[in-house]
Amino acid sequence: MAPFLLLRNVSKSFPVQNNLSNLFSKVKSNKKVIDDVSLEVNKGEVLVLAGESGSGKTTLAKLIMGALTPDHGAIYFEGEDIQILKKRKNYYSLVQMIHQDPYSSLNPHMKIRDIVMEPLKIHGKGLNRSEKEEKVRTALSRVRLEPVDEILDKYPTLLSGGQRQRVSIARSIVKDPKLIIADEPVSMLDISVRAEILSLINDLRKSLNISIIYITHDLATSRFIGDRIGIMYAGNIIEYGDIDEVLQNPLHPYTLMLLDAVSYNLTQSKFYKGYLEPNVTSFPSRGCKFYNRCKVSTQECTQDIKQFHINKKHSVSCFYYKNVA
Ligand SMILES: Nc1ncnc2c1ncn2[C@@H]1O[C@H](COP(=O)(O)OP(=O)(O)OP(=O)(O)O)[C@@H](O)[C@H]1O
Ligand SMILES: [Mg+2]
Repeated sequence: MAPFLLLRNVSKSFPVQNNLSNLFSKVKSNKKVIDDVSLEVNKGEVLVLAGESGSGKTTLAKLIMGALTPDHGAIYFEGEDIQILKKRKNYYSLVQMIHQDPYSSLNPHMKIRDIVMEPLKIHGKGLNRSEKEEKVRTALSRVRLEPVDEILDKYPTLLSGGQRQRVSIARSIVKDPKLIIADEPVSMLDISVRAEILSLINDLRKSLNISIIYITHDLATSRFIGDRIGIMYAGNIIEYGDIDEVLQNPLHPYTLMLLDAVSYNLTQSKFYKGYLEPNVTSFPSRGCKFYNRCKVSTQECTQDIKQFHINKKHSVSCFYYKNVA
């Protein structure tokens, strides 16, 4: 059987604009933001995508949503190329997104009823108003925003951050999607409500059998929700596998660096050069992009990267993973 979601060698570049010489040059330079990404998500599974700011997580989400088109490679949903599914329009109902900011993602002038109903208005043929309202009520009670009768007529400004994020989640499930992409859904919420929202997402995934791609900077909470994890660096997935396996036995110097950042253990490491912000302009054009920040890198790392399959549950793109293990 075909995997539920499959990305095969997906790449995406954007033109570089903020550079004067580029403005006047005939040869436009491009920045490869997603570079040869392959991955799989199974039905009902949660894949965590983690990595620093700018590593390409949201761009990858947009490619999977169908909002961007890959330059190379392909994305298959239940065995069908999404470029074909997009033409049939229903793809946009099957995949929904929850955004990071529950303040700017909800229209303040609309009542909660209309916000949650919005996706049903787009390609929501065949349902009359009361059927739509029934779906909205079901979605609101699934995200435990109760009493539903009161919530329906409220405006988002009257709700707390956590409640707003529940509204976003209700909106994302109202059309019975098969895949939800949650892009840092709790990072803007108070720490005290983060756990509630995470466990809500976890419960929904089980009760509705939805697959989830969960994007985060936060490795500490990702184990709570994820089944598998892909660690992204400069558009590449540099380590991938079963989440417990990857986080307990990290093999890429960059994964070690992220994990050390979680425990604030940023003292001298044998494997990476300090916890620096990546300098995007200094990525080597070929080979491992972590080369300049890595202490175990050698000339070999400027060759094309190879993915090593450690076992069925774990793969890593580093020639020196044995030094790290
Ligand atoms: N439409 C665009 N045009 C040009 N460059 C873009 C565009 N969208 C994203 N980028 C660039 O692509 C890179 C990856 O961006 P992206 O938003 O995917 O990162 P991210 O991992 O989601 O970061 P964050 O954790 O900050 O949300 C960045 O360098 C960004 O500036
Ligand atoms: Mg992002």
